[in-house]
Amino acid sequence: MFYYSGSHQEAHYLYKDFQGRRLCKYQGSWYYYNTLQAVINFHNNFQPQETDIILASSPKSGTTWLKALTVALLERSKQQDDDPLNHPLRSDNPHGIVPFLENNLYLKSSTPDLTKYSSSPRLFATHMPLHTLKEGLKGSPCKIVFMCRNAKDVLISMWYFVCKYQRVEASRSILESLFESLCSGVTFYGPFWDQVLSYWRGSLEDPSRVLFMKYEEMKEEPYAQLKRLAEFLGCPFTEEELESGSVDMILELCSLRSLSDLEINKSGKNVNGVDYKFYFRKGEVGDWKNHLTPEMESRIDMIIEEKLGGSGLSF
Ligand code: A3P
Repeated sequence: MFYYSGSHQEAHYLYKDFQGRRLCKYQGSWYYYNTLQAVINFHNNFQPQETDIILASSPKSGTTWLKALTVALLERSKQQDDDPLNHPLRSDNPHGIVPFLENNLYLKSSTPDLTKYSSSPRLFATHMPLHTLKEGLKGSPCKIVFMCRNAKDVLISMWYFVCKYQRVEASRSILESLFESLCSGVTFYGPFWDQVLSYWRGSLEDPSRVLFMKYEEMKEEPYAQLKRLAEFLGCPFTEEELESGSVDMILELCSLRSLSDLEINKSGKNVNGVDYKFYFRKGEVGDWKNHLTPEMESRIDMIIEEKLGGSGLSF
């Protein structure tokens, strides 16, 4: 059952995803029924705090990495002792520490108990587009960080993820179905381009509130990008920290190699039953070149040109 206030647009049951699961369109984006209910729950019941930080992304764009880096940045001010083994990232997966608003918290309950996340600033994550997220934030000046990734690598990452999760072989036919969904825009949280553009425009309109990051830039210049993130969040590195190698320590702690080597990430599962190890694969830029045909590449390029042309955003 949905609970609409007067301002909500109607939800439509129009399409199915590549596996035949029904998707509903709401405020321009596609959701599975239960996630849409969670979005409505979030809109109706979330009580924002001014210091909240929201980590936003499209699925498979580096969400896990962004969560880990942000946790590590904020943990600097909380750490009581220097024992690195006590770091929360060593005993829990970034998704266990930073819950998704609509995918975890408001999926299970319309009024989830958020007391566990009471230490300030609270950290939450989302895949909703900016306009839908903002409705739940009700004018609160929370900081929002968005991680963007090149659509072709997102497609390949999603292909492997879906196949691992469903324990089926990563076949070409599944890749082709995902490709068609991406191109048509009918994907969970899609159209991909609209979601990315919502944050891109938001970051141009209010750069002190919305930070737009790119996975590729994080890979290319992690040191500079981590400093940028720290400054945006209001916890810049001090001269002393810079001299003592704090930036590199955080980058190492949050590297794909270090995180995927931890026991929790080898054998743990998230609250929805997904193995944490599925969130770690190659972490490379341009893996799509190993999988997409020239036709697929040029079709995606044409859509990017059509959708993002003139926006100032490129990938
Ligand atoms: P690949 O499948 O291309 O390797 P998300 O976290 O949004 O689900 O995205 C998953 C993608 O981010 C996967 O990409 C995964 O390997 C990569 N990833 C996960 N942790 C990472 C890290 N610490 N550093 C860099 N990339 C990471």
